[in-house]
Amino acid sequence: MHKPQPVNNRFIDSFFIIANRLFPINNFFVTSEEISVSSYQITHLTLKNLTGLCGIPAGDITGLLDLTAGFKSKLVTPDPVFPALLQNRRIALVFFENSTRTRFSFEIAARHLGANTLTFTSSGSSVSKGETLSDTIRNLEAMKVDAFILRHASSGAAEFITGITNKSVINAGDGAHEHPTQALLDMFTLREHFGSLADLRVVILGDVLHSRVARSNIFGLQTLGAQVALCSPATLIPPDAACLGVKLFTDLDHAIAWADAAIVLRLQLERTTGGYLPSLEEYSAHFGLNDERLDKIRKHLLVLHPGPINREIEISNNVADRIQPPGYSKSMLLEQVTNGVAVRMAVLQTLLA
Ligand code: CP
Repeated sequence: MHKPQPVNNRFIDSFFIIANRLFPINNFFVTSEEISVSSYQITHLTLKNLTGLCGIPAGDITGLLDLTAGFKSKLVTPDPVFPALLQNRRIALVFFENSTRTRFSFEIAARHLGANTLTFTSSGSSVSKGETLSDTIRNLEAMKVDAFILRHASSGAAEFITGITNKSVINAGDGAHEHPTQALLDMFTLREHFGSLADLRVVILGDVLHSRVARSNIFGLQTLGAQVALCSPATLIPPDAACLGVKLFTDLDHAIAWADAAIVLRLQLERTTGGYLPSLEEYSAHFGLNDERLDKIRKHLLVLHPGPINREIEISNNVADRIQPPGYSKSMLLEQVTNGVAVRMAVLQTLLA
């Protein structure tokens, strides 16, 4: 049962968020019973919150991806109509940070399933008057919201609010911690292309240090049997990388020669001004994915990127935009966005239907 917090102030919010950053708790309330592969209408996977992929069993991830396949097959038809599995449910999209893909795809996913959505952004809300995260959540819950989809700049924020509300919580990206639905859509995209993730070689390329996408992908891909490598300047590798069971490259040519697929990360320019890089030109020269590199090693590579992209910094225009030959790369960037709607339908159905 949910226990109300006795003390309520900004200090307590910050304390729990910092504590969660130092000692990440991955309590996902997962009990997998039976997963229906054939139908998107029935699932027996029970998952109350989705705050990260660390610790989620392979069967549960596979169940979500199988459910996604059912939704995707319908989504790509003209004028898809879905059963209103979430009719009369109220889903609050609580976004303390900007978003295009995650917010809109959750909104579309929820509406396909018949739910009502409410969008909260910190600008224009009472957060600007000093209201805390916990008070914001409690007040939205008092308006009979059934689920919270939270994006927040603080690592651990989603896990933190599972202690504030007994409604379902979905992490839509928290600081540099996790972005589980992005990783699920990345895994779905890879599985759809290669058929299986077992022994697939995936390199995560670029600004790993600041990336919640990287962490969720490392956990999820490894759980499903993929081999994962990181390739980045030494200053942008997280200090705990050695504990994550990943291969490390600092030479991009070696990394792409090894990999079947690359997940290219956005260089988080807003966070990389503190001496992480000598210059953007040097970063691009050493770590930018472009045709010249792939031509040199004559290597076919499936290319993913969570977006938004910094064109001609971490990825060249040709590589970002090529969805068919000529060239050695195949871009999945827009396919990922389409898959994001299907993945989020699968997550909402599993948590709320
Ligand atoms: N990939 C991703 O999280 O994109 P948005 O920030 O646009 O949601």
